[in-house]
Amino acid sequence: MDKFVIRGGNPLLGTIRVSGAKNAALPAMAAAILTDEPVILENIPDVRDIQTERNLLVSMGAEVELGYGRAHHRTTISCKNLLNPEAAYELVKTMRASTLVLGPLVARMKRARVSLPGGCAIGARPIDLHIKGLEKLGAIIAQEHGYIEARAERLQGGHIIFDKITVTGTEDLMMAATLAEGETLMENCAREPEVSDLAALLNKMGARIEGAGTSAIRIQGVDKLRGARYRIIPDRIEAGTFVIAGALTGGDLIVSNCEPRHLGALLQKLDECGVKTKTNGDSVRVMGDNPLMAADISTEEYPGFPTDMQAQYMALATQAEGSSVVTENIFENRFMHAYELVRMGANVKVEGSRAVVRGRSPLSGAAVQCSDLRASASLVLAALVAEGETIIDRVYHVDRGYERIEEKLRGVGAQIRRIGEILPRKTVAPLATA
Ligand code: EPZ
Repeated sequence: MDKFVIRGGNPLLGTIRVSGAKNAALPAMAAAILTDEPVILENIPDVRDIQTERNLLVSMGAEVELGYGRAHHRTTISCKNLLNPEAAYELVKTMRASTLVLGPLVARMKRARVSLPGGCAIGARPIDLHIKGLEKLGAIIAQEHGYIEARAERLQGGHIIFDKITVTGTEDLMMAATLAEGETLMENCAREPEVSDLAALLNKMGARIEGAGTSAIRIQGVDKLRGARYRIIPDRIEAGTFVIAGALTGGDLIVSNCEPRHLGALLQKLDECGVKTKTNGDSVRVMGDNPLMAADISTEEYPGFPTDMQAQYMALATQAEGSSVVTENIFENRFMHAYELVRMGANVKVEGSRAVVRGRSPLSGAAVQCSDLRASASLVLAALVAEGETIIDRVYHVDRGYERIEEKLRGVGAQIRRIGEILPRKTVAPLATA
């Protein structure tokens, strides 16, 4: 398993480019199931979760071209010959977002067999709201052997009020409703930019969706959707991670190719912490020359402070003067990074859904381990400001959602390198003497 070796202390200076949003690309790729014509998506990030989604679609019989470099991070997906409407456990267990194929499969193929995702490091991650919504649209659902089996001759428009705000639940059912007979009204929907981005793609494919980005979404079902070409929005969480990196290292960093409008809650909070930022079109400049001040956060659905930025903010809070209370309202176990930060010298006390961070605590490099995607990003940030060398293990977690993060960070002055498995000295055969 690859590791990162990071030597802290360098301020990040220059321009760092943001990739396309993983959490917009994943539902957009699933949307290709809804048509027998090719769907071309651009600005696709080169991250592991996209490869997983590609493998999932191919396992169903889709043709998926996925090109980077000169291919401009583009994928072309053709679901003309979908033979196997199934998302197998082996794939779903590695990426919960695989459940995004459930709604499209029932809508297009009249049936779906999708493994229940099971929990992950940050929580139970149920999909009961996806299932209840599909039943509201007339699907017959059975659960057995760890799988959801869903069937519908044709889904019928209905009225769905989500018990809880769910991002992929909103996306899954919005996709299902595009091919239902009649009108669907969904209320208490997620308002994340990724939901709006998916609706824009679906409408380009011939769907009739209104209200995406608000808590009430209305969908007029149509008989068929066509192919489309669409460019995915920038990744607001990657952008936010880099903005924090610039602040934390006392740098002067331009985070480019992002959408500052999607960063409102974070930029407002950083202003409270004394961090100077300046937005300009598709970039944010962050200047970390002021001392950091403590400020509380409470994670909320968009447009509130994003849960996906909580771990990264905690790393910043360890360097702020004073106590910051971090409250996690979305997931039940999203403080795994706190215990690794403490091993680096941070002062963090976790009490249920709250963590109290007392700063400023000088951090020292240590051997640490990743547990989930955003916790891993938090450890990278801490290592950038820690005294000495940090070795971060299991960086495949980082690779799930950040495209070549070590190259991007090195490009703005970080001392970071990726190493393969470190073999204990004794197992390495001695060099033959000349
Ligand atoms: C999406 O996950 C994101 N993933 C997550 O990003 C993000 O943390 C999360 O939204 C919250 O913003 C993708 O978009 C692929 P939810 P999702 O359904 O949709 C409960 C990352 O780091 N819930 O909005 O799975 C759930 O347990 C990932 O990129 C139910 O109870 O999250 C949670 O407490 C991590 N029943 C809350 O709702 C359901 O049927 C919000 O979950 C569905 C969800």
